[in-house]
Amino acid sequence: MRATASAPANIAFVKYWGAADLERAEPLHPSISMTLESCRSITTVEALPRGDGDDVWLLDGEGGVAPAAVAFAAAVSRHLARLRDRLPLPPALRVTTRNTFPAAAGIASSASGGAALALAAARLLGIDPGPAQLAELARCGGSGSAARSVLGGYVEWPADGVPDGPPVQLAGDGHWQLRDLVVVVDATPKGVSSREGHRRAPTSPHFSTRRQLVPARLDRVRRAIAERDLAGLGPLLEEEAIELHLIAMSARPPIFYWRPGTLAVLAAVRRLRDGGLAAWATLDAGPNVHVICAAADATAVQRTLAALPEVLQVLADGVGSGPRIEEEP
Ligand code: PMV
Repeated sequence: MRATASAPANIAFVKYWGAADLERAEPLHPSISMTLESCRSITTVEALPRGDGDDVWLLDGEGGVAPAAVAFAAAVSRHLARLRDRLPLPPALRVTTRNTFPAAAGIASSASGGAALALAAARLLGIDPGPAQLAELARCGGSGSAARSVLGGYVEWPADGVPDGPPVQLAGDGHWQLRDLVVVVDATPKGVSSREGHRRAPTSPHFSTRRQLVPARLDRVRRAIAERDLAGLGPLLEEEAIELHLIAMSARPPIFYWRPGTLAVLAAVRRLRDGGLAAWATLDAGPNVHVICAAADATAVQRTLAALPEVLQVLADGVGSGPRIEEEP
């Protein structure tokens, strides 16, 4: 009895930052993201004959396999425990997982990992979950953004006006071929988790102002996606990213995710725009910068950013089609 599924990471255009209920990964307002294609987690879930707990293994891409680090294995076990509250899963499972992107590249793998584990577990039982059920199974592990990784294209979660509702697809991946160039300036694991960032967010004096600004920004981002309007979307992406980090930096105690390389990339993106290229930056809770641009400009933007001395690596990705069942490895 075993099943394999893969699910993509996503990049938030309007961020989930600060929770109504952190334990249940319940947000205070909708967030909107673009689902990626190449940055994926691929996860196999297999029933073990014995009944004494779960095993978690990491694959390294060249076929090598090693036991997962203690903290990661504990997070997977916690997610499996919550899945067992919802699905009749066997008492002992082996989970083997890998990411298609470099493990320490600073791309949030909690969304892709949570969605891939949920889909593989459901498939193990022969269940073919719809997006609402899969989103609930994906985020019960603790990562709210995993709820957005269950659909392709451009995704809003929760659906507007449905607090704690399911994700909805605003537009499919064929609607607008945006690219996401993930500019890595620091590949070490971040010092403060997103979970802790969510917890501290309301302690920032700027958090209440953000709550007032978000509804209008959601409307404008929805419209820019519908109209494929990058000149309209771009400034909103940067406002969102700066506001998330403003709140992090002014939380009590403060959280500084940015590194000198982060500022160098933000300045380079502004120079690219001054030179006539439509490239816009956003960041999640980390130092690395996601640069959003049109497919036609991606090669020129990537070349410029990869040449910066502060940049370790640029991962080129684009809008993708969502999770899928994989052939057995
Ligand atoms: O899903 P979590 O709990 O890891 O939080 C995600 C937080 C951000 O990546 C910073 C924003 C987002 O909406 O993805």
